[in-house]
Amino acid sequence: MNDRFLRACRREPVDATPVWFMRQAGRYMPEYQAIRASRSLLQICREPELAIEVTLQPVRRIAVDAAILFSDLLLPLEPMGLTFDFVKGEGPAFDNPVRSAADVERVRPIDPADAMAHVLETIRGLKEVLTVPLIGFVGAPFTLASYAVEGGPSKSFALTKAMMYTEPEAWHTLCARLADMAGAYLRAQIEAGVDAVQVFDSWVGHLDARDYREFALPHTRRLFAHLDGLSTPSIHFGVGTSMLLPDMREAGGDVIGADWRIPLDRAWDLIGHDRGIQGNLDPTLLLGPTGRLRAGVEDVLARAAQRPGHIFNLGHGVLPMTSLSAVQRVAEWVHTMSARPADA
Ligand code: CP3
Repeated sequence: MNDRFLRACRREPVDATPVWFMRQAGRYMPEYQAIRASRSLLQICREPELAIEVTLQPVRRIAVDAAILFSDLLLPLEPMGLTFDFVKGEGPAFDNPVRSAADVERVRPIDPADAMAHVLETIRGLKEVLTVPLIGFVGAPFTLASYAVEGGPSKSFALTKAMMYTEPEAWHTLCARLADMAGAYLRAQIEAGVDAVQVFDSWVGHLDARDYREFALPHTRRLFAHLDGLSTPSIHFGVGTSMLLPDMREAGGDVIGADWRIPLDRAWDLIGHDRGIQGNLDPTLLLGPTGRLRAGVEDVLARAAQRPGHIFNLGHGVLPMTSLSAVQRVAEWVHTMSARPADA
């Protein structure tokens, strides 16, 4: 078993910097497109045989040091009573968005062993064949709540923030329910065999630090409290969070993810060197010329300075128009450029 990734999560020395990519499975891969041609995203997520295959596709083709479970952030919302579908070209669309205290009351708790049995079966199947660690994941309460309230993707998060400010009690009830669901679901994923977990708070960068501390941090902390006493490493990631990194650290996570807007060394100073860091190459660099891409990889590695605890990743997910060869090249460069000298 390749353990570079888990060693870096624990801030132990490594032979080379580990690398994996958020959204490493998916539309930019021809073999994903082939499966997707005859099935919906939700069908792939719900059928363990297909979810296993799609999780393995990037591991076969790219020199990644970890696999990420193929699933979606939004799946556990459905058994909670928040039904949705993915609409082509638009993203998720919820049937009955949460807009009031009464709406919050219809958000039910779930037993992940039962409601998410298909995902747990996917994890058990993957653990039989993988030679790299498997990362499980959930959405953080703010990001999950924002989908439930907006009913779909949003640019301003106006409905979400309006509910936070005008119905704070309903907001806090909703987020506490989501935190307990996410905490129990992560524990179930760990029991099924995942080696590390990532909490995606993708859209929390829309809050300023004061609102983050009032409306998001207590719930993310509540989620992480479900992992107390477990040794499984955790990663805590958000986009546009340069100003929130110290607060995110306080909420929890052995490793904090940074997006590309902040130089990695500056981000690590803000997080503190007693935590690991994941990131943070701009995903759009993979769409540009090779020289510029290579310089970007070099810059991230130089800023990490081979300090234990760096996991190389993009600052957000692989974009659908990315070529597989660019992703392959980045993984290879990370390993060769960061190889530590062998012991004399
Ligand atoms: O390779 C991996 O990273 C594992 C699989 C994975 C998916 N979604 C599959 C997926 C993971 C980790 C996610 C998490 C997720 N889902 C996030 C957090 C990550 C991030 O990008 O910040 C979010 C915000 C979602 C919600 C979501 N899922 C949206 C808004 C959309 C539609 C927009 C889009 O990108 O198409 C999805 C669809 C989705 N989830 C796809 C994949 C591969 C697109 C697939 C398709 O249509 O075939």
